[in-house]
Amino acid sequence: MSSAVVILAAGQGERMKSDRAKVLHAVGGAPLIAHVVAAAQAIAPERLVVVTGHQAETVEAVVRTIAPEAHLARQDEALGTAHAVAQARAALDGSEGDVIVLYGDTPFVRPETLAAMQAARRGGAAVVVLGFQAADPTGYGRLIATGDMLEAIVEHRDADAETRAITLCNSGVICAGAGTLFGLIDRVGNANARGEYYLTDIVGLARAGGHACTFVTCPEAETLGINSRADLARAEAAFQSARRGEMLAGGVTLTAPETVFFAHDTHVGADTVIGPHVVFGPGVTVENGAEIRAFCHLEGCHVAEGAQIGPFARLRPGAEIGEGARIGNFVEIKEALVDRGAKVNHLAYIGDATVGEAANIGAGAITCNYDGVSKHRTEIGARAFIGSNSALVAPVRVGANAFVAAGSTITEDVAPGALAVGRARQATRPGLAIRLMDRLRALKAARSREDA
Ligand code: UD1
Ligand code: MG
Repeated sequence: MSSAVVILAAGQGERMKSDRAKVLHAVGGAPLIAHVVAAAQAIAPERLVVVTGHQAETVEAVVRTIAPEAHLARQDEALGTAHAVAQARAALDGSEGDVIVLYGDTPFVRPETLAAMQAARRGGAAVVVLGFQAADPTGYGRLIATGDMLEAIVEHRDADAETRAITLCNSGVICAGAGTLFGLIDRVGNANARGEYYLTDIVGLARAGGHACTFVTCPEAETLGINSRADLARAEAAFQSARRGEMLAGGVTLTAPETVFFAHDTHVGADTVIGPHVVFGPGVTVENGAEIRAFCHLEGCHVAEGAQIGPFARLRPGAEIGEGARIGNFVEIKEALVDRGAKVNHLAYIGDATVGEAANIGAGAITCNYDGVSKHRTEIGARAFIGSNSALVAPVRVGANAFVAAGSTITEDVAPGALAVGRARQATRPGLAIRLMDRLRALKAARSREDA
């Protein structure tokens, strides 16, 4: 049975010391809230509601782009987690099914864990809580359980010494039937250490009403919540470590895994080899059998089968590298197709361009794509040869099989098969170098005699 999901994202996140809303800080190149939304979407909820408050407009704008189907609810004042969930009631529009509550600052809860909670609900419990064994339980709510029966959740601040000794803690994720949930929330008060309406109080209320409550557990790493920059760094490290493991398991060779950084959506095909110190920004797909050599940075690009990138290459958004193409050291490609078998091997910039099949771009060649106001395109045909240190001033076309001589500045189209030379002519004077040097040495000798 599918459930509705409510994501709480109204909190301020003071300890981040940031002008940016906490849930918009990124892990793996995506905002925290995007990770949570993705986990929710993976269980295909019948409705998704995000409760915003602090910097509501900014957070809502991001949610609209990542989950256009989401309903938005506002919590104008942060009066506690029960109060936050209550704001989602109207958006849930009388839905009768289960409601799963997630936190927008807790990015690693897996869809499989949510499914286990749904299964526990089907087993008959009115409220299912996701718990974990905390290495250090300080600050967390404690689960008071008798066997599988969850009796209550007691917040750390409200707990006595005996309760504080319990290490089974509340992750914050809760699953309950919509009717039961809102009925219980209506009865939650705020007579506690923080004067807040605690969602956790619904467990004690449910038990007092004779309802069964239970819990499922997950590893502590899955419930990692982000409250500070240190937490964010820990989350990034955990995310990277998991992604590296997935890549290795998927048949990708990483020669120094701990130095390679992936984004949330990086796709790398089997038998691709990735050297040390490679960074993937968002939006990268690398097909099978490619090679990404050391010290490359890739973002928003596609690398086809068997292509070879780097070392020290930069692929920017819109770079499309064809099968078996080669992009070498200190080459930057942006918004450009480098077609199959083409070579851009050293020190080049190719932007807003098409490089045809098996074309060869020499060292130091660049597309002059920007005139200070607008961007213009450069079209280079199949098998064309662009000599070293050429400047192709866009908009310009170089036809198939054309040849541009080294050091040319190309401002006019070059027809297919043509040879273009766009540089000053060389003048050579026999013997002049020797005579020039003799004269310079004589001048220097005269000057040092005068100084003496
Ligand atoms: C909460 C739980 C605690 C659990 C812990 C896990 C309660 C009362 N306590 O405590 O049992 O161990 O999480 O991390 O639920 N939020 C709102 N509006 C509010 C208050 C909170 O949207 O009015 C959001 C926050 O942005 C955050 C989440 O709810 O994402 C949890 O709130 P927080 O204040 O961090 O609760 P904790 O004290 O950590
Ligand atoms: Mg918290």
